[in-house]
Amino acid sequence: GFALSDREKRCGDFSGGWQMRVSLAKVLVHRPPNIVLDEPTNHLDVAARDWLALELSEYRGTVLIVTHDTEFMDIVANRILELKDGAVTAYSGNYTDYQRQKAERLAQQDRAASRQEREIEKQTKFIERFRYKQTKATAVQSRIKAVERIERIERPNAREATVSFQLQATGRTERDLLSVTNVAHAYGDHQVLTDVTLHVERGDRVVFIGPNGSGKSTLLKIIARLIEPAAGSVVWSDRARLGYYDQHQDEALEAGRTVIEEVRAVATDEPDERLRNILGRFLFRGDDVYKPIAVLSGGERSRVALAKFLIEPSNVLLLDEPTNHLDVGTRRRLIDALEGYDGTIICASHDQTILERVATRVFEVDGGTAVEREEMRRELPPVKRSR
Ligand SMILES: Nc1ncnc2c1ncn2[C@@H]1O[C@H](COP(=O)(O)OP(=O)(O)OP(=O)(O)O)[C@@H](O)[C@H]1O
Ligand SMILES: [Mg+2]
Repeated sequence: GFALSDREKRCGDFSGGWQMRVSLAKVLVHRPPNIVLDEPTNHLDVAARDWLALELSEYRGTVLIVTHDTEFMDIVANRILELKDGAVTAYSGNYTDYQRQKAERLAQQDRAASRQEREIEKQTKFIERFRYKQTKATAVQSRIKAVERIERIERPNAREATVSFQLQATGRTERDLLSVTNVAHAYGDHQVLTDVTLHVERGDRVVFIGPNGSGKSTLLKIIARLIEPAAGSVVWSDRARLGYYDQHQDEALEAGRTVIEEVRAVATDEPDERLRNILGRFLFRGDDVYKPIAVLSGGERSRVALAKFLIEPSNVLLLDEPTNHLDVGTRRRLIDALEGYDGTIICASHDQTILERVATRVFEVDGGTAVEREEMRRELPPVKRSR
């Protein structure tokens, strides 16, 4: 889908989705016999993701994909390898098949553990009963040995470690929160936004949708006051306190800092204890907090960025594709937290679940403007909209 004029463009200037398309095009064009892809659906819009799914499911060679995208796995995968606690377990079929087999496997392991416990109990009773009987001495000894030799079946730990957090607004804003009026913006002679006007009220949960490269991130940065628009105005009410989550966490965090230093940078007077407590909820435990940002995985970086959100006081969340990179559990928790949030949210996302569960207003960013999709407007139950 590249335009002729794009051929001369530097890769860094492309939007997140288009950078991903560049990388995918580089790999797929040669039709190699084996392909390895690391989270290929991050940043892709719906059309590009569907195209890739189809392309890969019909691919003749072997494809190895690392992904958290469960729907994508359902379409593309015919084997699932689960990496956990340093070991790999293989399952046949797609993600849905994997879930079923895994549940079966866990239930089976659980039953085997119960059976074994009963058996050990029975043997132990025998041993205790006849321990002091001369006539049974050899039998008792051999049973003691037998019990010692049994390799214990571990009960499956059904509860995997997942992040746990809630998002809370600090202070209540005015009802009229944000006015964006006739905003336009261009990079060089590439006009991205021509005329955007929108009004946001306290408690709204606005989601920007639209194809890759349509200007969602640009608009969000203008709203966050990180970019000065070429024309038009952005006016926030006085009590608005913004928290901003970048689409590219590798650029948004300081590579040279450790995890705890990065978090402390937004909360200088917070005691270490509280910072550690919050990082713990994002699964940074013990010495993990001294890891340099530079060595963290994509998902770990996203968790650091989310932890910063909890520490920095804000009542408006500006989120640019926050569910990219997140594993299945963390993504679910984030969406729960956003659903229960009592402030205002403005978010760019290709994630269908965010649209369904978080959005109360949806704007389609395309062709230089942002048009509200009135049919997608939704009222929240009164408990959920307060601040
Ligand atoms: N710093 C920049 N210099 C030049 N062009 C840019 C720059 N940043 C973005 N662009 C271009 O502006 C357009 C809009 O980019 P933007 O990142 O806002 O899109 P997006 O809607 O967020 O896309 P995606 O869904 O892929 O994240 C794209 O064509 C992009 O290539
Ligand atoms: Mg973007």
